[in-house]
Amino acid sequence: HTEVLATLSADIAIIGGSGLYQMSSLTNKRSVTIQTPYGSPSDDIVLGELEGVTVAFLTRHGQGHRLTPSEVPYRANIYALKTLGVRYIVSVSAVGSLQAHLKPLDMVVPDQMIDMTKQRVSTFFGEGAVAHVSMADPLCPALAELLTRAYDQADIIEGTSHSKATYVCIEGPQFSTRAESEWYRQMQADIIGMTNMPEAKLAREASIAYATLALVTDFDCWHPTEEAVSADYAIKNLMKNADNAQKVIRQAVALIAAELPESIAHNALAQALVTPIDAMD
Ligand code: ADE
Repeated sequence: HTEVLATLSADIAIIGGSGLYQMSSLTNKRSVTIQTPYGSPSDDIVLGELEGVTVAFLTRHGQGHRLTPSEVPYRANIYALKTLGVRYIVSVSAVGSLQAHLKPLDMVVPDQMIDMTKQRVSTFFGEGAVAHVSMADPLCPALAELLTRAYDQADIIEGTSHSKATYVCIEGPQFSTRAESEWYRQMQADIIGMTNMPEAKLAREASIAYATLALVTDFDCWHPTEEAVSADYAIKNLMKNADNAQKVIRQAVALIAAELPESIAHNALAQALVTPIDAMD
């Protein structure tokens, strides 16, 4: 039994967003179906090897991109990854750019987030169990630094990489209005997406290090001369971006496995205000 359990665990998970529905370089693949108290995850989780390291791969929108950003079962996804023993999550996500210097095909590793979502359950707590984890640094700084290094070491020809950016998460599934896009720019947000919240919050509550590799597909709709985002436009750039993302991920996995970086997330609950056990019924 221990052997079976050992093969059904992974330190590192990749959550693949729009455009990254599978990792072509995964070998020795096996699919696991996991049920959680929060229902089924977006899809079966694929365990496989990348650079000789076991990783868990989960496609955020499910097979055939069936789930809207609001429908993604964020709690089930994080719970299922925790069940596999995951300690590091690399979130790969398509984003729009809110700043002129962040261009389509660039990659951004954000360090801050603004949660503008409206209808998602964003905590594992409640019903008598209370904890307030810190979200001051919503993305793991050590993992984010490693992702930036992975980009620099990977052989990427098109685009450049940026770090220290703010990701604003909207509910979607519609793109923003021009007024909203302008407002997010005034908030000093740099990139815009629909999925990394509450994913980052839930990962933090689960004490899993979480960082994002954001792939820029468009200029949203604020830019005076660039065309406003449409699904067609974003998808065209996504396809180009997915190959580059896989190169960065391969390098990142090798670095994570070699360094096992210490994360502020790993003791998130130790520093949170938690309901004393004897106060729970
Ligand atoms: N994902 C990709 N481009 C986006 C945009 N402009 N707004 C929100 N999510 C996105």
